[in-house]
This record gives sequence, structure tokens and C-alpha cells, in this order.
Amino acid sequence: MVETVQPALALNGTITLPPDKSISHRSVLFASLADEASTIHNYSSAADPESTIHCMRQLGVRIDKDGNELVVHGVGRNGLKSPEDPLDCGNSGTTMRLLSGIVAGAGIKATLIGDKSLSGRTMKRIIDPLRSMGAVIEASDDEFAPIEIRPHSGIKPIRYPLPIASAQLKSCVLLAGLFGKSATEVIEQVLSRDHTERLLGLKSEPFGQGKIISSSTADQIPTQSYTIPGDFSAAAFWMVGAAIHSESSLKLENVGMNPSRTGALHILKQMGASINITNERMQGREPVADVEIQSSELKGIDIDPALIPNCIDELPILMVALCFADGRSSITGAEELRHKETDRLSAMYDILSAAGAPVELRPDGIIIQGNPGFTPNGTEFESHHDHRMAMSAAILSTRSEEPSTIIDAECTSISYPQFWTHLQSVSK
Ligand code: S3P
Repeated sequence: MVETVQPALALNGTITLPPDKSISHRSVLFASLADEASTIHNYSSAADPESTIHCMRQLGVRIDKDGNELVVHGVGRNGLKSPEDPLDCGNSGTTMRLLSGIVAGAGIKATLIGDKSLSGRTMKRIIDPLRSMGAVIEASDDEFAPIEIRPHSGIKPIRYPLPIASAQLKSCVLLAGLFGKSATEVIEQVLSRDHTERLLGLKSEPFGQGKIISSSTADQIPTQSYTIPGDFSAAAFWMVGAAIHSESSLKLENVGMNPSRTGALHILKQMGASINITNERMQGREPVADVEIQSSELKGIDIDPALIPNCIDELPILMVALCFADGRSSITGAEELRHKETDRLSAMYDILSAAGAPVELRPDGIIIQGNPGFTPNGTEFESHHDHRMAMSAAILSTRSEEPSTIIDAECTSISYPQFWTHLQSVSK
């Protein structure tokens, strides 16, 4: 599908965000491991969280679904069954990495597969620690899906300093650790999103500059009622959209405000964005708030590399904001972007260059010479089948004077199926 994006004079209105993708995945995975039924309200209808539901059903978990409301009939840690067919994780790295931890921990037999993009993403980062925990795993070139996991003689606990700031890797090891008699400890020096430890209530203590988190069979998996907040990563597209247009104001309700996710908010505020946060409250174990953002005079910035793990998914849309900021900006320490659904550093470089923005690509980041008066070329943008590339190119295109087209625009359904309708409804 090709989507045409019309220039907009302003972006105005109120948006109901899609439910958070990371928390949606985790709610189904964790509820499946609990001993009794849990309810999940406002589960994401996007393709990635659907893949997680599908895989857990194949592992023998009954999941009743009525729109965005789920009842997950947990089978307990010992109740998962080896599936007959491969577990298809689709495009979802979170499904593949977290589920590998669960399948390996449970000691059942399963093969995990994914689409072309996921099959090209390295799984070595999870295979190595899972093997040192006693898991039996085979993978294509010892690194890529299909990942075949076989029964083993029991999980050996490990003490694991994370070699990269990755919540997927951290969660994978902790989930396998839930099946070990004594504690597996994960040491995290650079803090990544903490939904796993937060929702499972795992023991987490300060350690050096970071923290140490542990898991074992002694941890009770909570049977709980989950309510999924609006996705901060989806909110970021609208924050930037309103900030870069004149006479614009967007209201976003019920936004997930987990501090390990909101790096982009701090960066946009540092750039001078006009953002108002109200109605801050807890929804279950996660903080949420309403956010209003207005037209802003943005300044260029050198993004602090320490903030990268807390805005990793928002970096593409932040790059769009930097194009309209006054002065030079830099992103460094973001090599991880090359390992996402596509190489997001190269893909964003291509998109911004096609729009006519002065950008320089670096091995671990990008340099952007911003200009508040920048008018992007109306042109054809490649989404690289990556939802965040498609949405970033679309927001960029709204500042053009001519229509643009986004190729393979249906990929937004991976995280935000209503994106194109929402864009139309707020574009003035
Ligand atoms: C996610 C963690 C991040 C993020 C991804 C979702 C998660 O990946 O990019 O979209 O839900 O744990 P990494 O942990 O690989 O950085």
C-alpha cells in the first residue's frame, strides 16, 4: 500500500493512542505463567502483540479475546506444552527474545521463526547467556532464526552483567531465571526500560551506577488485572508533529510515562518544546499522564548518549524534530539503531536526505544541520517495511509544500494500526 501525505498548515486535536506495545507483550507472557486467570484491559490490536497471543496459544495457554479485553488463563511455570508447529513471532523482536527465555527456561521443545526482517536480526545476544544457563539451542549460522530450543536438564542460575543496554536481553535472561532454583542475577549499568521487573515485582537493587535484578522459582508470578497505558513511543510522533508546525496543539490522553521510556520528552524539553503534563497518576504498576504539546521554537542539541536507551525507539522521530531546530544537532552512541527492524540509522539518513535535509551519517549516529524554515521536498519515501520509518517520514512530509508518498505504508500496523486515520484527522 502506498499512502499519500498532504502538506498540513497545522496539527490540532486530541488523540487516543494505541496501547503500549512493550507492556502488551509482557502482560500476556506474564499472565500465561501465573497460576490463575488474569485480565488485561486495553490490549494492543497491533500486529506485534497479536503475534505474542498467537504463540502463547500454541504453547497451550487459553486466551479469551473480546476486542481489546483479554482473559489469560495462566498455566503456571510448569504448564507450558511443546507446540506442534513453529512459533511464528512475525516482525516482533520482543516476542522472539522474551519467548526464547520462557521456552528455554521451561525446558520444552519449540522452534521460533519470524518474518524476513526478524530472521535477519541477531539473536546471538540471547543465545549466549541462555546456553550458559544450560539451554540447548540451535540457530541458523548460530545467530539467526529459526531458533530451535530443546529440553535440558535444568536451568543453572547465572550472574550476568549485560553487555548491551537492551531490555529484551535483560528480560530474556530474567524470564529464563524464573525457572531456576536459585537466583539468576542480571547487572544493568545503563538502565533500559524496566517493565519486566516492574510488572513481575522482581527484586531490584542499586548496584554501582546501575542496578542488579534477580529472578528464580521463589518469585511468585502475580495474577493481576493489567491495564495497558497509551504507547509513549506512539505519542512521540505527535509531540514532534505539533512542535514543528505553527498554530498547533495536540492533546494526548493516558500516555505511559514510565521514566525508563521518556527520554524523548526530556530531549524535546531541552530543545525548547512547549509540553504540558497533567493528571499524573498510577495505572496498576505503571505511571500515566495526559500530555499537551504546542508549536515550539526548537533549538539544536547534542543528545546525551546516556539517554539513548531511554529514547531508542523515538530517535527516528527525534531526528525529524532536529531538522526543524535552530542549529546543528548530533546523535552519538546509537549504534543499536542498526539492529532494529531495519538499520534505522541508514534508513533515516536516506529519508532525511531525500527530503533535502543536510545530514551526515556516522557509524553510531547522525549529524543534522537544522533550520526552523526547512521545507522538505515532496517526494517518494521508502518505509523499508519498518513502522517507525513510515511514521517518521509521514510527520516529516506534513511540513512539505507538496504531497509525498510513503511506500509499503501498511507496516504502521506493526505498532499503530490507526496511524493514517489519526494523521488525517489532526491535519489542518
Ligand atoms: C523493547 C526493547 C527495545 C525496543 C523495542 C521494544 C522491549 O529493544 O527497541 O522496540 O519491549 O523490551 P532492545 O531491548 O533490543 O533495545
